[in-house]
Amino acid sequence: MPTHEIRHPLIRHKLGLMRRADISTKNFRELAQEVTMLLTYEATKDLVLEDQEIVGWAGPVTVQRIAGKKITVVPILRAGIGMLDGVLNLVPSAKVSVLGLERDEETLKARTYYSKMVPDIANRLGLIIDPMLATGSSLVAAIDVLKTSGCKDIRVMVLVAAPEGIKRVADAHPDVEIYTASVDQGLNEQGYIVPGLGDAGDKIFGSI
Ligand code: URA
Repeated sequence: MPTHEIRHPLIRHKLGLMRRADISTKNFRELAQEVTMLLTYEATKDLVLEDQEIVGWAGPVTVQRIAGKKITVVPILRAGIGMLDGVLNLVPSAKVSVLGLERDEETLKARTYYSKMVPDIANRLGLIIDPMLATGSSLVAAIDVLKTSGCKDIRVMVLVAAPEGIKRVADAHPDVEIYTASVDQGLNEQGYIVPGLGDAGDKIFGSI
């Protein structure tokens, strides 16, 4: 499945503001939500519609509504929380499944420390959100959890992605589409994305 880098002017502009070293927590948070809303618009553009007859101001009218499969948004703790309202602003009826992953220092693999999936996840589109796709190890683990829970249609939204992370996810889960505001240059020796955003969790929560 292709990775979608959404190069809309509004996204480019807002992401440029987010890259400033002196950005405040408030501005970073707000921009993260705004970019997420714009990515959500793209990531949901093929949702199936159905006709519905309603009574309009001038009498009966046929309108459309989203049919069939509904959405569960899956923020990966902690930084994914910073994108959650951006999705819910556009899809207020979406259910939220929460996933906490941490690095197991012995195996160096991502380990699940918290998982609360909605019960009907098998009938929903799982939309995983995490601001930074760096090495891809936590995202691969998150997709594993969703698939094990029965989720059959999974998409990922990240603000910034490194090519290394995209490749890792694509190799492990070729059926999963990634939506991102930017594919950046790559990872530095510390595993940060360059030019990236720095530590997105710290910037969203103000823990810097
Ligand atoms: N996590 C972040 O918050 N930033 C990076 O650049 C990589 C991982």
